[in-house]
Amino acid sequence: MSRFPKDFLWGGAIAASQADGAWQDGNKGLDTQDLRYFDAAWENEMRQENRNINMTAQRFTNAMQAENTEMYPFRRGIDFYYTWKEDLKLFHEMGMKLFRTSINWARIYPNGDDPKPNEQGIQFYKALFTECHRLGIKVFATILHYNIPVHLVTEYGGWKSRETVKYYERYCITLFEELGDLVDYWLPFNEINCSRFNPWNGCCLIKDQEAEYNHAIFQCTHHQFVANALAVKAAHKILPGSKVGGMIARFTSYPATCKPDDVMQSILDENYKNYFYTDVMARGKYPSYTERMFEELGVDIEKESGDIELISENTVDFLAYSYYMSMLSSNDPNYEITSGNLLSGKKNPYLKSSDWGWQIDPIGLRISLNQMYDRYQLPVMIAENGIGAKDILEADKGVHDDYRIEYLREHVRQMEEAIADGVDLFGYTMWGIIDIVSCGTLEMSKRYGVIYVDRDDAGHGSNQRYKKDSFHWYKKCIATNGDDLR
Ligand code: BG6
Repeated sequence: MSRFPKDFLWGGAIAASQADGAWQDGNKGLDTQDLRYFDAAWENEMRQENRNINMTAQRFTNAMQAENTEMYPFRRGIDFYYTWKEDLKLFHEMGMKLFRTSINWARIYPNGDDPKPNEQGIQFYKALFTECHRLGIKVFATILHYNIPVHLVTEYGGWKSRETVKYYERYCITLFEELGDLVDYWLPFNEINCSRFNPWNGCCLIKDQEAEYNHAIFQCTHHQFVANALAVKAAHKILPGSKVGGMIARFTSYPATCKPDDVMQSILDENYKNYFYTDVMARGKYPSYTERMFEELGVDIEKESGDIELISENTVDFLAYSYYMSMLSSNDPNYEITSGNLLSGKKNPYLKSSDWGWQIDPIGLRISLNQMYDRYQLPVMIAENGIGAKDILEADKGVHDDYRIEYLREHVRQMEEAIADGVDLFGYTMWGIIDIVSCGTLEMSKRYGVIYVDRDDAGHGSNQRYKKDSFHWYKKCIATNGDDLR
């Protein structure tokens, strides 16, 4: 018998910009992820460089003038906007209990500051979420997975401005009022710590327009903390009993050696990259170590009166995080560096890596679950976990992805261990349940799904869906509540 609770939420996750496409349909406004450029002819090095590339005024202008979807993969995604009914059938067949997707702000308020919401956008999400419930699938809605209406950037400076906070609050209120009875779990921000590592994705900053880039990043983060608290407050008022989570990208780090310097570096990495954000959202205050961090970064955040009280009175109901890999901590520069989610880091000789260099560390998931629960005693959800790989659609129309099954199996086993350790883990939404455009590299060929989508990096292909071997594996895992992992 597995140790997973009987109502454990086995699920799958995607995000609007990576899946939906239909960038100009349904009266949708232009959003910030529609502006990210990719060329399928790029060699690997350029693809990697593009991963966390800074937005510049020139790139921004070029993208604003471009009308094509060809070089802007987020404009086409996997056309989930048109295929969702068929895709949900596959999720249902798999036995999925929870579906995580994001709502695109620019579908609800095309410009962000429009006087009224866009009815077509609301109807789209009503239909999508109603169908999920009809199929017995609960909904985990991310309110913001990076992309905001571009107009909020050109008109107000995006997250640098309190105006964006105001419009975000109004967007949230619209969602709670219109979709409240169709959403089971709310997530105001995907990976709120992303701004530090990818300032365009996280807070929509144009680098060469910022005199004080670091300051701008943390000012935006403060505004997002305020926005997060406003979302929690509004949800609890409009939808009593609603569950609102706080999420980070979890960068689990180990001291590279038992040298005290490495151990200290690991503590600092954990605090600065992870806990700062969850401390604010779950404990409701800026932790003491941030004073030194800001001093060293030369950052001095402007806070308005009432911000600190608001943040302290409106903490989240649960914590969620994405977990893909772990890194080593050390200030010794001689370590080999390898790629990872959002940032690169020091290589661990005990771990294998994915095709993209991300270090595979299932035990790190158990470690991070214990750390997270021990620190906050809040229910935890794994909102993303999976492996990006170069899958091949074989002549038999199958994808024999035993490497993915292996990755998932080992991570599921470690979740079970964490539950046995006493962690209140209540759900798991596997990332990229269906192949979507990669957020980091914008490649379609970096596939996470248990469902294959026949499209290549240039957007060519039938867009047909095929079940991979991992589809059947995950179905069995769900059906047996994590008992049969063969
Ligand atoms: C997470 C993001 O950080 O990592 C997702 O929330 C993203 O949007 C995922 O897709 C995997 O990263 P990538 O770069 O492989 O798509």
